[in-house]
Amino acid sequence: MKIGIFVGSTTGNSAGAAEAIQKEFNKKLPGATTVLNVKVASPSQMSAYDFVIIGCPTWNVGELQEDWAAQFSALDAVNFSGRKVAFFGCGDQVGYINNFQDAMGILGNKVVAMGAEVYGFWSYEGYDFALSEGVVDDHFVGLALDDDNQSQKTQGRIEAWVKQLCAELGIP
Ligand SMILES: Cc1cc2nc3c(=O)[nH]c(=O)nc-3n(C[C@H](O)[C@H](O)[C@H](O)COP(=O)(O)O)c2cc1C
Repeated sequence: MKIGIFVGSTTGNSAGAAEAIQKEFNKKLPGATTVLNVKVASPSQMSAYDFVIIGCPTWNVGELQEDWAAQFSALDAVNFSGRKVAFFGCGDQVGYINNFQDAMGILGNKVVAMGAEVYGFWSYEGYDFALSEGVVDDHFVGLALDDDNQSQKTQGRIEAWVKQLCAELGIP
């Protein structure tokens, strides 16, 4: 299985998370996972992967990170029908209590509407926020990370999430 992690990151937190996710997958599937930064990579490259992971922090109060904002319309050209996809995001639940992880929801809504199969839904237990577009049907659409307030939980959350993804995808 070829796994592509498409990430945008302004201050490095999401890029660091992408590398940590890659490292976890490497334990199960050595060399199967590639990290692509959407500052230079295009969503059109997603078709080369069996499983696509989309990582985007929320910026500017409820907005996509700038590189994802620039690539957003390019998602229209990707055939997501039946494609396996997962999401992760970085955010700040204290500073942006009404917009925590909105970017994950903005991307999730678009890609789901285009027919993708979503893996890796994540419980919002252990977070404290008021509103989030990243919440769908009582859970986050993907892994929510908060390095501004809960950095000590990031590595454990990533390990648990990759374990969950492997179980959902049938990776032994
Ligand atoms: C100006 C500004 C606006 C932000 N807006 C949000 C927001 O609306 N929602 C949120 O959850 N986090 C918000 N954040 C927090 C970032 O998403 C967080 O710091 C994240 O870890 C940055 O990820 P990156 O290092 O990958 O760019 C904001 C941060 C700044 C500085």
